[in-house]
Amino acid sequence: MIQLPKTFLEREVQVQAPRHIGIMMDGNGRWANQRGLPRLEGHRAGTQNVRRALDACQRAGIRVVTLYVFSTENWGRPKDEVDGFFEILGQVIEDETKNFHAQGVRLVHSGSLDGIPQNLANKVRRAVELTRANDRYILNVAFNYGGRMEILRAAQQILRQRVHADALSENLLERFLYTAGLGDMDLVIRTGGEQRLSNFFPWQAARGVFYSTPTLWPDFDASELARALEFYARAVASDD
Ligand code: IPE
Ligand code: IPE
Ligand code: MG
Repeated sequence: MIQLPKTFLEREVQVQAPRHIGIMMDGNGRWANQRGLPRLEGHRAGTQNVRRALDACQRAGIRVVTLYVFSTENWGRPKDEVDGFFEILGQVIEDETKNFHAQGVRLVHSGSLDGIPQNLANKVRRAVELTRANDRYILNVAFNYGGRMEILRAAQQILRQRVHADALSENLLERFLYTAGLGDMDLVIRTGGEQRLSNFFPWQAARGVFYSTPTLWPDFDASELARALEFYARAVASDD
């Protein structure tokens, strides 16, 4: 529950914490720049911050977290940055998967493994496989993900399976998405201050609340999450 102060709407308001939140982890490069460090150090700090942010989400009662790790547009970055980022990612999967598994976290991958180095792609597959039956928390990793691509892929699969036009519904289409069964996103948080949606889960976030904070991703902590949740609670409460 998120408790809002009485002054808000002149009444006591309690809002259920969001069930599913999406996080666009932006600002790693700027974080490094500000410290005179190479961009990859920003990515390293950003990946390390995932643990802290997820702990805060769990404490707040959030069951499903979707993280934007790498977009299909991010291939446009310099090769050195992409390669270095993939290396950091492989290391994190290696280090963290066992912990996630022990905590009952199911890892889901949204995106395509086409074009991803074999070694890294295998690590992703193994982590998903190992944690498949867990159901305490879900961590959905948007890696090599694009929202339009996801919907297009769903449409292709629906056509291939010759689903009858009249049988197609929102519920049925949802089952063809990477996030099948994960449910709508209640809140999307974007760090780094931009207001852009950047191809992030257009279907799943369609009815969600969008919150943008200038805080750079490596600095996003529990108090920043609390601010985002208060913003969410206000947005939901004014909808009553
Ligand atoms: C987000 O940080 C991480 C990825 C997109 C991989 P950026 O690398 O976009 O950081 P800024 O926006 O340049 O600061
Ligand atoms: C969004 O950040 C994508 C991720 C967080 C992975 P970008 O920095 O790539 O987004 P744009 O360039 O603002 O669209
Ligand atoms: Mg950015």
